[in-house]
Amino acid sequence: MRVYLETFGCQMNELDSELVRSHLVSLGHSFVDATDAAEVILLNTCSVREQAEQKAYSRIGIVGQRKRAGEQLLLGVIGCMAERDGIDILRRFPQVDLLCGPSELDKLPALIDNAAKAVQATRAAARAESAAVLPSRRGNRALSDGRVALAGNRTRRTATLAAAEDDLESLDLARAFQPADLLAAGRSAYVRITRGCNKFCTYCVVPNTRGAEVHRPPDHIVEECRKLADAGAVEVTLLGQTVNHYRYVHGAALTVNGREAAQVGPGLSAFRATASAAATTQHRAGAITRRTTSFADLLRRIHEEVPSIARLRFLTSYPRDFGNDVLQVMQESPRICRYLHAPAQSGSDRILKLMNRGYEVSEYLEFIERVRDALPDACIAGDFIVGFPTETDDDFEATCQLIRTVRFKNNFIFKYSPRPGTVAIDRFPDDVSDEVKRMRNNTLLAVQAMVGASVHREWVGRTVEVFIEGLRDWTTPAGADRGNGSVSGGKVHLAWEGPRQAVCQRQAIGRTGGDLIVAASFPSDQTPPVPGSIHKVRISGAAPLLLTGSVVS
Ligand code: SAH
Ligand code: SF4
Ligand code: F3S
Repeated sequence: MRVYLETFGCQMNELDSELVRSHLVSLGHSFVDATDAAEVILLNTCSVREQAEQKAYSRIGIVGQRKRAGEQLLLGVIGCMAERDGIDILRRFPQVDLLCGPSELDKLPALIDNAAKAVQATRAAARAESAAVLPSRRGNRALSDGRVALAGNRTRRTATLAAAEDDLESLDLARAFQPADLLAAGRSAYVRITRGCNKFCTYCVVPNTRGAEVHRPPDHIVEECRKLADAGAVEVTLLGQTVNHYRYVHGAALTVNGREAAQVGPGLSAFRATASAAATTQHRAGAITRRTTSFADLLRRIHEEVPSIARLRFLTSYPRDFGNDVLQVMQESPRICRYLHAPAQSGSDRILKLMNRGYEVSEYLEFIERVRDALPDACIAGDFIVGFPTETDDDFEATCQLIRTVRFKNNFIFKYSPRPGTVAIDRFPDDVSDEVKRMRNNTLLAVQAMVGASVHREWVGRTVEVFIEGLRDWTTPAGADRGNGSVSGGKVHLAWEGPRQAVCQRQAIGRTGGDLIVAASFPSDQTPPVPGSIHKVRISGAAPLLLTGSVVS
Protein backbone atom coordinates (compact mmCIF):
# COMPACT_ATOMS: atom_id res chain seq x y z
CA MET A 1 0.00 0.00 0.00
CA ARG A 2 1.07 3.62 -0.44
CA VAL A 3 1.90 5.07 2.97
CA TYR A 4 2.27 8.67 4.12
CA LEU A 5 4.05 8.98 7.47
CA GLU A 6 4.19 12.17 9.51
CA THR A 7 6.38 12.42 12.60
CA PHE A 8 5.87 14.61 15.66
CA GLY A 9 8.02 14.81 18.79
CA CYS A 10 11.55 13.88 19.61
CA GLN A 11 14.52 12.17 17.92
CA MET A 12 13.26 8.82 19.31
CA ASN A 13 10.18 9.26 17.18
CA GLU A 14 12.24 10.24 14.14
CA LEU A 15 14.21 7.02 14.52
CA ASP A 16 11.03 4.99 15.10
CA SER A 17 9.62 6.44 11.88
CA GLU A 18 12.74 5.43 10.00
CA LEU A 19 12.57 1.88 11.37
CA VAL A 20 8.86 1.62 10.62
CA ARG A 21 9.53 2.83 7.10
CA SER A 22 12.24 0.28 6.40
CA HIS A 23 10.12 -2.52 7.92
CA LEU A 24 7.09 -1.63 5.78
CA VAL A 25 9.19 -1.19 2.61
CA SER A 26 10.73 -4.64 3.17
CA LEU A 27 7.18 -6.03 3.14
CA GLY A 28 6.28 -4.39 -0.16
CA HIS A 29 4.67 -1.12 0.96
CA SER A 30 5.81 2.15 -0.60
CA PHE A 31 6.04 5.67 0.83
CA VAL A 32 4.64 8.86 -0.65
CA ASP A 33 5.40 12.50 0.15
CA ALA A 34 1.84 13.83 0.03
CA THR A 35 -1.29 12.73 1.85
CA ASP A 36 -3.25 13.01 -1.44
CA ALA A 37 -1.37 10.08 -2.93
CA ALA A 38 -1.63 7.88 0.18
CA GLU A 39 -3.78 4.86 0.94
CA VAL A 40 -2.54 4.76 4.54
CA ILE A 41 -1.80 7.82 6.66
CA LEU A 42 0.31 7.16 9.76
CA LEU A 43 0.78 9.82 12.42
CA ASN A 44 3.73 9.09 14.70
CA THR A 45 2.67 11.14 17.68
CA CYS A 46 4.12 12.77 20.81
CA SER A 47 2.44 13.25 24.18
CA VAL A 48 5.03 15.18 26.10
CA ARG A 49 3.06 18.44 26.16
CA GLU A 50 -0.57 19.19 25.41
CA GLN A 51 0.45 21.32 22.45
CA ALA A 52 2.19 18.35 20.85
CA GLU A 53 -1.03 16.35 21.07
CA GLN A 54 -3.13 19.21 19.66
CA LYS A 55 -1.12 19.12 16.43
CA ALA A 56 -1.87 15.44 15.98
CA TYR A 57 -5.56 15.92 16.81
CA SER A 58 -5.86 18.58 14.16
CA ARG A 59 -4.37 16.19 11.57
CA ILE A 60 -6.79 13.46 12.74
CA GLY A 61 -9.62 15.96 12.20
CA ILE A 62 -8.52 16.77 8.64
CA VAL A 63 -8.26 13.11 7.67
CA GLY A 64 -11.70 12.57 9.24
CA GLN A 65 -13.20 15.22 6.95
CA ARG A 66 -11.65 13.52 3.93
CA LYS A 67 -12.96 10.13 4.96
CA ARG A 68 -16.44 11.49 5.56
CA ALA A 69 -16.28 13.03 2.09
CA GLY A 70 -15.89 9.49 0.76
CA GLU A 71 -12.12 9.08 0.39
CA GLN A 72 -10.91 5.57 1.06
CA LEU A 73 -8.04 5.96 3.45
CA LEU A 74 -6.65 4.12 6.44
CA LEU A 75 -5.62 6.31 9.36
CA GLY A 76 -3.19 4.97 11.94
CA VAL A 77 -2.18 6.74 15.14
CA ILE A 78 1.14 5.39 16.35
CA GLY A 79 3.67 6.50 18.97
CA CYS A 80 3.37 7.99 22.43
CA MET A 81 -0.10 9.52 22.09
CA ALA A 82 -1.54 6.18 20.99
CA GLU A 83 -0.05 4.60 24.11
CA ARG A 84 -1.17 7.39 26.46
CA ASP A 85 -4.73 7.88 25.18
CA GLY A 86 -5.26 4.21 24.36
CA ILE A 87 -8.48 2.99 22.80
CA ASP A 88 -10.17 6.17 23.94
CA ILE A 89 -8.85 7.59 20.65
CA LEU A 90 -10.89 5.00 18.72
CA ARG A 91 -14.02 5.96 20.64
CA ARG A 92 -13.57 9.68 20.14
CA PHE A 93 -12.34 9.53 16.56
CA PRO A 94 -14.07 6.81 14.54
CA GLN A 95 -11.93 7.79 11.55
CA VAL A 96 -8.89 6.22 13.29
CA ASP A 97 -8.40 2.69 11.97
CA LEU A 98 -5.45 1.49 14.02
CA LEU A 99 -3.44 2.30 17.14
CA CYS A 100 0.11 1.26 17.89
CA GLY A 101 2.22 2.27 20.90
CA PRO A 102 5.96 2.91 20.58
CA SER A 103 6.84 -0.40 22.25
CA GLU A 104 4.75 -2.38 19.77
CA LEU A 105 5.89 -0.98 16.44
CA ASP A 106 7.10 -4.37 15.23
CA LYS A 107 3.40 -5.32 15.01
CA LEU A 108 2.47 -2.40 12.75
CA PRO A 109 2.40 -4.32 9.42
CA ALA A 110 -0.08 -6.81 10.89
CA LEU A 111 -2.24 -3.98 12.24
CA ILE A 112 -2.33 -2.33 8.80
CA ASP A 113 -3.36 -5.63 7.18
CA ASN A 114 -6.06 -6.21 9.78
CA ALA A 115 -7.38 -2.66 9.48
CA ALA A 116 -7.52 -2.95 5.68
CA LYS A 117 -9.43 -6.24 5.99
CA ALA A 118 -11.78 -4.74 8.57
CA VAL A 119 -12.57 -1.81 6.28
CA GLN A 120 -13.25 -4.18 3.37
CA ALA A 121 -15.49 -6.29 5.58
CA THR A 122 -17.42 -3.19 6.69
CA ARG A 123 -17.90 -2.11 3.10
CA ALA A 124 -19.07 -5.56 2.06
CA ALA A 125 -21.46 -5.67 5.02
CA ALA A 126 -22.72 -2.20 4.17
CA ARG A 127 -23.36 -3.24 0.56
CA ALA A 128 -25.21 -6.35 1.70
CA GLU A 129 -27.24 -4.35 4.18
CA SER A 130 -28.26 -1.68 1.72
CA ALA A 131 -29.10 -4.36 -0.89
CA ALA A 132 -31.33 -6.07 1.66
CA VAL A 133 -32.63 -2.70 2.85
CA LEU A 134 -31.74 -3.61 6.42
CA PRO A 135 -31.41 -0.90 9.05
CA SER A 136 -27.83 0.36 8.92
CA ARG A 137 -25.49 -0.96 11.57
CA ARG A 138 -22.45 0.49 9.89
CA GLY A 139 -19.49 2.10 11.58
CA ASN A 140 -19.89 0.90 15.10
CA ARG A 141 -19.03 -2.76 14.84
CA ALA A 142 -16.32 -4.07 17.06
CA LEU A 143 -13.49 -3.61 14.62
CA SER A 144 -10.79 -2.96 17.16
CA ASP A 145 -9.69 -6.62 17.16
CA GLY A 146 -6.28 -6.90 15.58
CA ARG A 147 -6.05 -3.16 15.05
CA VAL A 148 -4.66 -2.14 18.42
CA ALA A 149 -1.24 -2.85 19.90
CA LEU A 150 -0.48 -1.06 23.15
CA ALA A 151 1.91 -2.05 25.90
CA GLY A 152 -0.33 -0.92 28.73
CA ASN A 153 1.54 -1.62 31.93
CA ARG A 154 3.02 -4.83 30.63
CA THR A 155 6.57 -3.60 30.18
CA ARG A 156 6.79 -2.80 33.88
CA ARG A 157 5.58 -6.14 35.23
CA THR A 158 8.89 -7.89 35.72
CA ALA A 159 12.33 -7.38 34.35
CA THR A 160 12.67 -10.77 32.70
CA LEU A 161 9.20 -10.71 31.24
CA ALA A 162 9.79 -7.32 29.74
CA ALA A 163 13.10 -8.44 28.29
CA ALA A 164 11.58 -11.60 26.87
CA GLU A 165 8.83 -9.60 25.31
CA ASP A 166 11.12 -7.02 23.89
CA ASP A 167 10.35 -7.91 20.31
CA LEU A 168 11.20 -4.37 19.42
CA GLU A 169 14.84 -5.36 19.24
CA SER A 170 13.96 -7.17 16.03
CA LEU A 171 12.81 -3.88 14.55
CA ASP A 172 16.18 -2.22 15.22
CA LEU A 173 18.00 -5.31 13.96
CA ALA A 174 15.98 -5.36 10.74
CA ARG A 175 16.98 -1.81 9.90
CA ALA A 176 17.85 -1.29 6.23
CA PHE A 177 21.26 0.19 5.47
CA GLN A 178 20.87 1.73 2.04
CA PRO A 179 23.62 4.09 0.89
CA ALA A 180 20.99 6.13 -1.00
CA ASP A 181 18.97 6.61 2.22
CA LEU A 182 22.03 7.72 4.14
CA LEU A 183 22.98 10.15 1.41
CA ALA A 184 19.46 11.57 1.54
CA ALA A 185 19.77 11.87 5.32
CA GLY A 186 22.97 13.90 4.95
CA ARG A 187 25.13 10.96 6.10
CA SER A 188 23.78 11.37 9.63
CA ALA A 189 21.99 8.62 11.56
CA TYR A 190 20.51 7.84 14.95
CA VAL A 191 21.18 4.62 16.84
CA ARG A 192 19.12 3.71 19.87
CA ILE A 193 21.07 2.38 22.85
CA THR A 194 18.26 2.34 25.41
CA ARG A 195 14.50 2.45 25.19
CA GLY A 196 12.09 3.74 27.81
CA CYS A 197 12.89 5.52 31.05
CA ASN A 198 12.95 4.64 34.74
CA LYS A 199 13.33 8.12 36.17
CA PHE A 200 9.70 9.14 36.71
CA CYS A 201 10.19 12.88 36.77
CA THR A 202 6.81 13.93 38.14
CA TYR A 203 5.78 15.99 35.09
CA CYS A 204 6.74 13.49 32.41
CA VAL A 205 4.69 10.98 30.40
CA VAL A 206 7.67 9.19 28.85
CA PRO A 207 8.03 6.40 31.47
CA ASN A 208 4.35 5.61 30.83
CA THR A 209 4.42 5.84 27.05
CA ARG A 210 7.80 4.22 26.40
CA GLY A 211 7.84 1.79 29.31
CA ALA A 212 10.71 0.52 31.40
CA GLU A 213 14.29 1.36 30.60
CA VAL A 214 15.70 -1.38 28.37
CA HIS A 215 19.35 -1.51 27.36
CA ARG A 216 20.32 -2.99 24.02
CA PRO A 217 23.20 -5.48 23.84
CA PRO A 218 26.46 -3.67 23.01
CA ASP A 219 27.24 -6.04 20.12
CA HIS A 220 23.98 -5.09 18.43
CA ILE A 221 24.74 -1.40 18.85
CA VAL A 222 28.32 -1.63 17.56
CA GLU A 223 27.15 -3.75 14.62
CA GLU A 224 24.45 -1.24 13.73
CA CYS A 225 27.01 1.60 13.86
CA ARG A 226 29.35 -0.38 11.63
CA LYS A 227 26.64 -1.11 9.05
CA LEU A 228 25.57 2.53 9.03
CA ALA A 229 29.18 3.66 8.56
CA ASP A 230 29.67 1.11 5.76
CA ALA A 231 26.59 2.53 4.07
CA GLY A 232 28.03 6.05 4.29
CA ALA A 233 27.14 7.51 7.71
CA VAL A 234 29.68 10.10 8.89
CA GLU A 235 27.77 11.22 11.97
CA VAL A 236 26.06 8.85 14.40
CA THR A 237 24.00 10.06 17.36
CA LEU A 238 23.34 7.51 20.10
CA LEU A 239 19.87 7.91 21.57
CA GLY A 240 18.36 7.26 24.95
CA GLN A 241 16.22 9.26 27.39
CA THR A 242 19.08 9.02 29.90
CA VAL A 243 21.82 7.88 27.60
CA ASN A 244 24.65 7.99 30.14
CA HIS A 245 22.68 5.58 32.25
CA TYR A 246 23.44 2.77 29.80
CA ARG A 247 24.76 -0.36 31.48
CA TYR A 248 24.66 -3.87 30.10
CA VAL A 249 25.38 -6.76 32.45
CA HIS A 250 26.66 -9.67 30.39
CA GLY A 251 25.34 -13.12 31.11
CA ALA A 252 22.36 -11.74 33.02
CA ALA A 253 19.77 -11.31 30.28
CA LEU A 254 17.87 -13.94 28.40
CA THR A 255 19.53 -14.96 25.20
CA VAL A 256 17.63 -15.17 21.95
CA ASN A 257 19.03 -17.75 19.50
CA GLY A 258 22.28 -17.73 21.41
CA ARG A 259 22.61 -13.94 21.11
CA GLU A 260 22.38 -11.53 24.00
CA ALA A 261 18.99 -9.90 24.44
CA ALA A 262 17.98 -6.40 25.42
CA GLN A 263 18.00 -5.94 29.19
CA VAL A 264 15.88 -4.02 31.63
CA GLY A 265 17.75 -1.32 33.55
CA PRO A 266 17.80 -0.83 37.33
CA GLY A 267 14.41 -0.13 38.84
CA LEU A 268 13.04 3.08 40.20
CA SER A 269 14.14 2.32 43.76
CA ALA A 270 17.78 2.54 42.71
CA PHE A 271 17.24 6.19 41.84
CA ARG A 272 15.04 7.45 44.65
CA ALA A 273 16.53 10.52 46.23
CA THR A 274 17.42 8.66 49.44
CA ALA A 275 19.30 5.98 47.56
CA SER A 276 20.83 8.36 45.09
CA ALA A 277 24.26 8.72 46.61
CA ALA A 278 24.79 4.98 46.92
CA ALA A 279 23.26 4.23 43.53
CA THR A 280 25.39 6.88 41.87
CA THR A 281 28.57 5.67 43.51
CA GLN A 282 27.82 2.13 42.48
CA HIS A 283 26.89 3.25 39.01
CA ARG A 284 30.05 5.27 38.54
CA ALA A 285 32.41 2.76 40.01
CA GLY A 286 30.89 -0.20 38.20
CA ALA A 287 30.66 -2.03 41.51
CA ILE A 288 28.98 -5.05 39.96
CA THR A 289 30.85 -8.31 39.85
CA ARG A 290 29.47 -9.59 36.51
CA ARG A 291 31.20 -8.33 33.37
CA THR A 292 29.42 -5.16 32.37
CA THR A 293 29.54 -2.70 29.51
CA SER A 294 29.09 0.81 30.85
CA PHE A 295 28.21 3.83 28.75
CA ALA A 296 31.89 4.82 28.78
CA ASP A 297 32.85 1.30 27.57
CA LEU A 298 30.26 1.47 24.83
CA LEU A 299 31.50 4.86 23.60
CA ARG A 300 35.08 3.61 23.57
CA ARG A 301 34.11 0.46 21.68
CA ILE A 302 32.24 2.35 18.96
CA HIS A 303 35.02 4.94 18.66
CA GLU A 304 37.67 2.25 18.31
CA GLU A 305 35.79 -0.34 16.30
CA VAL A 306 34.10 1.99 13.82
CA PRO A 307 36.71 4.68 13.09
CA SER A 308 34.94 5.80 9.91
CA ILE A 309 32.33 7.53 12.07
CA ALA A 310 33.90 10.98 12.14
CA ARG A 311 31.31 12.33 14.55
CA LEU A 312 29.99 10.27 17.42
CA ARG A 313 27.40 12.07 19.56
CA PHE A 314 24.83 11.13 22.17
CA LEU A 315 21.51 12.43 23.51
CA THR A 316 20.18 12.99 26.20
CA SER A 317 22.48 13.02 29.24
CA TYR A 318 20.97 12.86 32.68
CA PRO A 319 22.90 15.27 34.93
CA ARG A 320 23.21 12.73 37.71
CA ASP A 321 25.05 9.46 37.03
CA PHE A 322 27.40 11.22 34.60
CA GLY A 323 30.68 9.62 35.54
CA ASN A 324 34.24 10.83 35.05
CA ASP A 325 34.80 7.60 33.12
CA VAL A 326 32.65 9.02 30.29
CA LEU A 327 34.54 12.33 30.39
CA GLN A 328 37.83 10.46 30.24
CA VAL A 329 36.76 8.46 27.18
CA MET A 330 35.62 11.71 25.55
CA GLN A 331 38.99 13.30 26.31
CA GLU A 332 40.83 10.37 24.75
CA SER A 333 38.60 10.00 21.70
CA PRO A 334 38.92 12.76 19.10
CA ARG A 335 35.90 11.63 17.10
CA ILE A 336 33.48 11.91 20.04
CA CYS A 337 31.84 15.32 19.83
CA ARG A 338 32.42 17.76 22.68
CA TYR A 339 28.75 18.34 23.05
CA LEU A 340 26.41 17.53 25.94
CA HIS A 341 22.67 17.93 26.03
CA ALA A 342 22.05 17.71 29.77
CA PRO A 343 18.70 19.25 30.77
CA ALA A 344 18.70 20.95 34.17
CA GLN A 345 14.91 21.68 34.10
CA SER A 346 15.08 24.22 36.96
CA GLY A 347 17.58 26.25 38.95
CA SER A 348 15.62 25.92 42.21
CA ASP A 349 16.31 23.02 44.58
CA ARG A 350 12.74 23.15 45.86
CA ILE A 351 11.30 22.78 42.33
CA LEU A 352 13.85 20.11 41.38
CA LYS A 353 12.68 18.13 44.38
CA LEU A 354 9.03 18.46 43.36
CA MET A 355 10.06 17.35 39.88
CA ASN A 356 11.78 14.26 41.37
CA ARG A 357 14.90 15.02 39.35
CA GLY A 358 17.11 13.49 42.01
CA TYR A 359 19.78 16.20 42.09
CA GLU A 360 20.27 19.66 43.54
CA VAL A 361 21.61 22.71 41.74
CA SER A 362 24.99 22.31 43.48
CA GLU A 363 25.27 18.77 42.07
CA TYR A 364 24.41 20.01 38.59
CA LEU A 365 27.09 22.69 38.91
CA GLU A 366 29.59 20.14 40.19
CA PHE A 367 28.87 18.04 37.10
CA ILE A 368 29.37 21.07 34.81
CA GLU A 369 32.64 21.87 36.59
CA ARG A 370 33.89 18.34 35.92
CA VAL A 371 32.91 18.73 32.25
CA ARG A 372 34.71 22.09 31.99
CA ASP A 373 37.84 20.66 33.65
CA ALA A 374 37.99 17.66 31.37
CA LEU A 375 36.78 19.28 28.14
CA PRO A 376 37.26 23.05 28.19
CA ASP A 377 35.81 23.43 24.68
CA ALA A 378 32.64 21.44 25.35
CA CYS A 379 29.34 23.08 24.46
CA ILE A 380 26.46 22.46 26.81
CA ALA A 381 22.78 22.60 25.93
CA GLY A 382 19.71 21.80 27.96
CA ASP A 383 15.99 22.04 28.62
CA PHE A 384 14.08 24.08 31.21
CA ILE A 385 10.47 24.00 32.29
CA VAL A 386 8.97 27.30 33.45
CA GLY A 387 5.81 27.62 35.53
CA PHE A 388 6.05 24.27 37.30
CA PRO A 389 3.42 24.22 40.10
CA THR A 390 4.28 26.56 43.00
CA GLU A 391 7.22 28.14 41.11
CA THR A 392 7.78 31.57 42.66
CA ASP A 393 9.61 34.59 41.29
CA ASP A 394 12.59 33.57 43.42
CA ASP A 395 12.58 30.03 42.02
CA PHE A 396 12.42 31.49 38.55
CA GLU A 397 15.25 33.92 39.26
CA ALA A 398 17.35 30.95 40.39
CA THR A 399 16.70 29.36 36.99
CA CYS A 400 17.85 32.55 35.20
CA GLN A 401 20.96 32.52 37.37
CA LEU A 402 21.72 28.89 36.53
CA ILE A 403 21.64 29.71 32.81
CA ARG A 404 24.10 32.56 33.38
CA THR A 405 26.41 30.45 35.54
CA VAL A 406 26.52 27.40 33.29
CA ARG A 407 26.74 29.43 30.07
CA PHE A 408 24.63 27.07 27.99
CA LYS A 409 25.05 27.36 24.24
CA ASN A 410 21.29 26.95 23.87
CA ASN A 411 18.29 25.75 25.80
CA PHE A 412 14.88 24.45 24.88
CA ILE A 413 12.40 26.21 27.14
CA PHE A 414 8.94 24.82 27.80
CA LYS A 415 5.92 26.06 29.70
CA TYR A 416 4.78 23.43 32.19
CA SER A 417 1.95 21.38 30.72
CA PRO A 418 0.05 19.12 33.14
CA ARG A 419 -0.11 15.64 31.62
CA PRO A 420 -2.69 13.01 32.51
CA GLY A 421 -1.13 9.95 34.11
CA THR A 422 1.78 11.82 35.69
CA VAL A 423 2.35 12.28 39.41
CA ALA A 424 2.47 16.07 39.09
CA ILE A 425 -1.05 16.44 37.68
CA ASP A 426 -2.48 14.53 40.65
CA ARG A 427 -0.28 16.00 43.34
CA PHE A 428 0.29 19.64 42.40
CA PRO A 429 -2.38 22.05 41.17
CA ASP A 430 -1.28 23.87 38.01
CA ASP A 431 -1.23 27.15 39.92
CA VAL A 432 1.06 29.33 37.81
CA SER A 433 -1.13 31.30 35.42
CA ASP A 434 -0.57 31.01 31.70
CA GLU A 435 0.29 34.68 31.58
CA VAL A 436 3.08 34.23 34.13
CA LYS A 437 4.29 31.11 32.32
CA ARG A 438 4.42 33.09 29.08
CA MET A 439 6.30 35.95 30.73
CA ARG A 440 8.83 33.62 32.32
CA ASN A 441 9.22 31.77 29.05
CA ASN A 442 10.04 35.03 27.23
CA THR A 443 12.35 36.25 29.97
CA LEU A 444 14.26 32.99 29.98
CA LEU A 445 14.58 33.08 26.18
CA ALA A 446 16.05 36.59 26.51
CA VAL A 447 18.50 35.50 29.23
CA GLN A 448 19.52 32.53 27.11
CA ALA A 449 19.94 34.75 24.03
CA MET A 450 22.41 36.95 25.93
CA VAL A 451 24.32 34.00 27.29
CA GLY A 452 24.22 32.22 23.91
CA ALA A 453 25.57 35.30 22.14
CA SER A 454 28.50 35.51 24.52
CA VAL A 455 29.23 31.76 24.20
CA HIS A 456 29.15 32.08 20.39
CA ARG A 457 31.39 35.21 20.42
CA GLU A 458 34.17 33.17 22.02
CA TRP A 459 34.49 31.26 18.75
CA VAL A 460 35.12 34.32 16.57
CA GLY A 461 38.60 34.21 15.07
CA ARG A 462 38.90 30.45 15.44
CA THR A 463 38.89 27.82 12.71
CA VAL A 464 36.44 24.99 13.32
CA GLU A 465 35.40 21.79 11.58
CA VAL A 466 31.86 21.96 10.29
CA PHE A 467 29.68 19.00 9.33
CA ILE A 468 27.75 20.33 6.35
CA GLU A 469 23.97 19.85 6.35
CA GLY A 470 22.90 21.85 3.32
CA LEU A 471 23.25 24.90 1.12
CA ARG A 472 21.10 27.98 1.09
CA ASP A 473 20.90 31.15 -0.92
CA TRP A 474 20.61 34.02 1.49
CA THR A 475 19.56 37.57 0.92
CA THR A 476 21.37 39.13 3.81
CA PRO A 477 20.98 42.57 5.26
CA ALA A 478 23.78 44.56 3.62
CA GLY A 479 27.04 44.16 5.43
CA ALA A 480 25.53 42.69 8.59
CA ASP A 481 26.20 39.42 10.31
CA ARG A 482 22.98 39.39 12.22
CA GLY A 483 21.67 36.01 11.26
CA ASN A 484 19.93 33.97 13.85
CA GLY A 485 19.50 30.23 13.74
CA SER A 486 17.40 27.58 15.35
CA VAL A 487 17.14 23.84 15.17
CA SER A 488 13.95 21.86 15.05
CA GLY A 489 13.20 18.38 13.85
CA GLY A 490 16.93 17.88 13.43
CA LYS A 491 17.09 20.62 10.76
CA VAL A 492 18.69 24.04 10.87
CA HIS A 493 16.48 27.04 10.16
CA LEU A 494 17.90 30.48 9.69
CA ALA A 495 16.27 33.88 9.81
CA TRP A 496 17.84 37.25 9.20
CA GLU A 497 16.95 40.42 10.99
CA GLY A 498 16.98 43.79 9.33
CA PRO A 499 16.13 45.11 5.88
CA ARG A 500 16.17 42.51 3.16
CA GLN A 501 17.73 44.53 0.39
CA ALA A 502 21.23 43.66 -0.58
CA VAL A 503 23.55 40.82 -1.04
CA CYS A 504 22.43 37.41 -2.20
CA GLN A 505 24.95 34.88 -1.12
CA ARG A 506 25.24 31.11 -1.30
CA GLN A 507 26.20 29.64 2.07
CA ALA A 508 26.92 26.22 3.46
CA ILE A 509 25.00 25.46 6.65
CA GLY A 510 26.28 22.98 9.19
CA ARG A 511 27.33 22.29 12.78
CA THR A 512 30.54 22.23 14.75
CA GLY A 513 31.47 19.24 16.91
CA GLY A 514 29.96 21.20 19.82
CA ASP A 515 26.69 21.51 17.86
CA LEU A 516 27.06 25.24 17.17
CA ILE A 517 25.25 26.18 13.96
CA VAL A 518 27.50 27.71 11.31
CA ALA A 519 26.63 29.55 8.08
CA ALA A 520 29.75 29.69 5.93
CA SER A 521 30.38 31.45 2.67
CA PHE A 522 32.71 29.98 0.06
CA PRO A 523 34.26 31.36 -3.13
CA SER A 524 31.76 31.34 -5.99
CA ASP A 525 34.28 29.62 -8.26
CA GLN A 526 34.68 26.78 -5.76
CA THR A 527 32.59 23.57 -5.81
CA PRO A 528 30.01 23.96 -3.03
CA PRO A 529 30.56 21.77 0.04
CA VAL A 530 28.30 18.72 -0.08
CA PRO A 531 25.99 17.68 2.76
CA GLY A 532 27.65 15.06 4.92
CA SER A 533 31.17 16.40 4.32
CA ILE A 534 33.34 18.08 6.94
CA HIS A 535 35.05 21.40 6.13
CA LYS A 536 37.24 23.82 8.01
CA VAL A 537 35.57 27.18 8.49
CA ARG A 538 37.16 30.39 9.77
CA ILE A 539 34.65 32.05 12.10
CA SER A 540 34.18 35.81 11.70
CA GLY A 541 30.79 36.59 13.26
CA ALA A 542 28.48 35.44 16.04
CA ALA A 543 24.83 35.75 17.04
CA PRO A 544 22.89 34.09 19.90
CA LEU A 545 22.37 30.90 17.90
CA LEU A 546 24.69 31.19 14.94
CA LEU A 547 28.30 31.51 13.88
CA THR A 548 29.20 32.93 10.48
CA GLY A 549 32.43 32.55 8.57
CA SER A 550 34.09 31.31 5.43
CA VAL A 551 35.16 27.89 4.26
CA VAL A 552 38.95 27.60 4.25
CA SER A 553 39.33 23.98 3.18
N1 SAH B 1 14.84 12.41 28.87
C1 SAH B 1 15.07 13.76 28.67
C2 SAH B 1 13.87 14.57 28.29
C3 SAH B 1 12.80 14.03 27.43
S1 SAH B 1 11.35 15.01 27.25
C4 SAH B 1 15.62 14.33 29.99
O1 SAH B 1 15.21 13.95 31.05
O2 SAH B 1 16.41 15.20 29.92
C5 SAH B 1 12.02 16.52 26.60
C6 SAH B 1 11.77 17.71 27.46
O3 SAH B 1 10.41 18.03 27.48
C7 SAH B 1 12.15 17.58 28.91
O4 SAH B 1 13.52 17.77 29.11
C8 SAH B 1 11.33 18.66 29.56
O5 SAH B 1 12.02 19.87 29.61
C9 SAH B 1 10.14 18.79 28.63
N2 SAH B 1 8.91 18.29 29.24
C10 SAH B 1 8.63 17.02 29.58
N3 SAH B 1 7.40 16.95 30.15
C11 SAH B 1 6.90 18.22 30.17
C12 SAH B 1 5.70 18.79 30.64
N4 SAH B 1 4.76 18.06 31.21
N5 SAH B 1 5.53 20.13 30.48
C13 SAH B 1 6.48 20.88 29.90
N6 SAH B 1 7.63 20.39 29.45
C14 SAH B 1 7.86 19.07 29.58
FE1 SF4 C 1 10.96 12.15 31.32
FE2 SF4 C 1 12.59 12.46 33.37
FE3 SF4 C 1 12.68 10.24 31.91
FE4 SF4 C 1 13.55 12.53 30.87
S1 SF4 C 1 14.43 11.45 32.63
S2 SF4 C 1 12.22 11.03 29.89
S3 SF4 C 1 12.16 14.02 31.76
S4 SF4 C 1 10.98 10.90 33.21
FE1 F3S D 1 7.20 12.80 22.79
FE2 F3S D 1 7.30 10.26 23.23
FE3 F3S D 1 9.46 11.57 22.49
S1 F3S D 1 6.15 11.71 24.37
S2 F3S D 1 9.16 13.55 23.42
S3 F3S D 1 7.64 11.27 21.30
S4 F3S D 1 9.38 9.87 23.90
